Amino acid sequence: MHLEFICNGKKVSVDVPADMRALDLIRDVMGLTGTKEGCARGECGACTIIVNGKAVNSCLMYAVKLKGKEVFTIEGLSEESGKLHPLQEAFLEEGAVQCGFCTPGMIMSAKALLDRNPRPNEEEIEEAISGNICRCTGYAKIVKAVTRAGLGNNHG
Ligand code: FES
Ligand code: FES
Repeated sequence: MHLEFICNGKKVSVDVPADMRALDLIRDVMGLTGTKEGCARGECGACTIIVNGKAVNSCLMYAVKLKGKEVFTIEGLSEESGKLHPLQEAFLEEGAVQCGFCTPGMIMSAKALLDRNPRPNEEEIEEAISGNICRCTGYAKIVKAVTRAGLGNNHG
């Protein structure tokens, strides 16, 4: 099946099998391997991407569902110059990354939150990342990092 959509600001035009998952399109066909596969059943959040402003599990979504949508993956966050997104900076500054496996999904969930709520409180952050599992850092540092990134938003 043919589909076109926007990914990280660029037009994508691709043919995919009807039963291909969005996760496999992104990782295997498009080579955007920042998006991770953990549980493959919607429980860990490692595969989180943003589709039309919403954080979704790409392991549970068919690739064809991306047709006509605006998609962001972790690769779309930093600038072409290599400058990191404020969320990425905040995760580094707060030590919110250990093995890093959960981090792209965590950051995408946090970005979807900050895009609709630029200065969220702790509860709102916890709710936004409740579908993302981290088995090593502990959530306190992650919540602090998202709070820090939110405090850097002057428009909230
Ligand atoms: S790999 Fe998709 S939620 Fe775990
Ligand atoms: S940093 Fe290792 S799973 Fe979160």
